[in-house]
Amino acid sequence: MASVVGVESPLALYRRYRPETFAEVIGQDHVTEPLRAALASNRVNHAYLFSGPRGCGKTTSARILARALNCELAPVADPCGQCQSCRDLARGGPGSIDVIEIDAASHGGVDDARDLREKAFFAPVRSRYKVYVIDEAHMVTTQGFNALLKLVEEPPPHLRFIFATTEPDKVIPTIRSRTHHYPFRLIPPRLLSSYLGELCAREGVPIEPAAVPMVVRAGAGSARDTLSVLDQLLGGPARPGSPTSWPPGCSATPRTRCSTRSSTPSPPVTAGPSSAWSTRSSRPGRTRAASPRTSCAGCATW
Ligand SMILES: Nc1ncnc2c1ncn2[C@@H]1O[C@H](COP(=O)(O)OP(=O)(O)O)[C@@H](O)[C@H]1O
Ligand SMILES: [Mg+2]
Ligand SMILES: [Zn+2]
Repeated sequence: MASVVGVESPLALYRRYRPETFAEVIGQDHVTEPLRAALASNRVNHAYLFSGPRGCGKTTSARILARALNCELAPVADPCGQCQSCRDLARGGPGSIDVIEIDAASHGGVDDARDLREKAFFAPVRSRYKVYVIDEAHMVTTQGFNALLKLVEEPPPHLRFIFATTEPDKVIPTIRSRTHHYPFRLIPPRLLSSYLGELCAREGVPIEPAAVPMVVRAGAGSARDTLSVLDQLLGGPARPGSPTSWPPGCSATPRTRCSTRSSTPSPPVTAGPSSAWSTRSSRPGRTRAASPRTSCAGCATW
């Protein structure tokens, strides 16, 4: 059978550049630094809640935390990247039987929770910890959460939970109070701009300086959305070797992004990045919505 490997299109930029260490996660030092400290001193809590806007690093950080917890050199602040566990949990790696990612959007019911509860008591197969990453945790039903309550409150020593959600208020308070809560933030434009420059250099693609702020604005503080916009530009009109620029009249990216966004308000965004967004994106005489959740900045300027 003819191989199709040679004609496969590359993975999306945001998948190829998913950070593998906390050092690669941008704009979330208020989360990554305390986590690194807890890892280094072997004081990692049994349950975490990562909340915040989409595409800002919640799932990525949950995976890095799981990787560091199970690194053979643990306790370590950063996964070594070399040991078997780190290699299994690397980007594109086969994964680990002891790190279980559950998408609560499709597995958030009470039966799923009971199933998890039963399996969770078995010790990890190959690693130090059995880590459950429960993504889209706001989709776990109330009954599902109640079925997990006792386990999250007093887990066996080999168990760690990381809940990730855009809507922490929908995680029932009894579960929330048993976690350490870290709110992720929108990423300031300054950081996204330099990140884009870095990625373009790594991709060997020249980008017109004027295009950078437009891409950043269209991404509205989400690293994933920003990389998707860049991907669309790279895959679009540019000829090989020609500088990437915003295609004249291109309407697709910001508008489609905007309409697919959740209408949920962002969780509380604290001083730094939030003020960076509002000061950077507002012009004299014109007030733009500070929250890109409801009005994408890209659309607002288009
Ligand atoms: N803080 C960040 N630093 C660098 N890249 C990021 C960051 N947040 C998100 N990304 C990019 O976006 C992608 C999706 O991130 P993810 O962690 O899944 O977001 P979410 O917060 O929605 O869980 C990652 O693969 C990565 O490429
Ligand atoms: Mg996620
Ligand atoms: Zn390791």
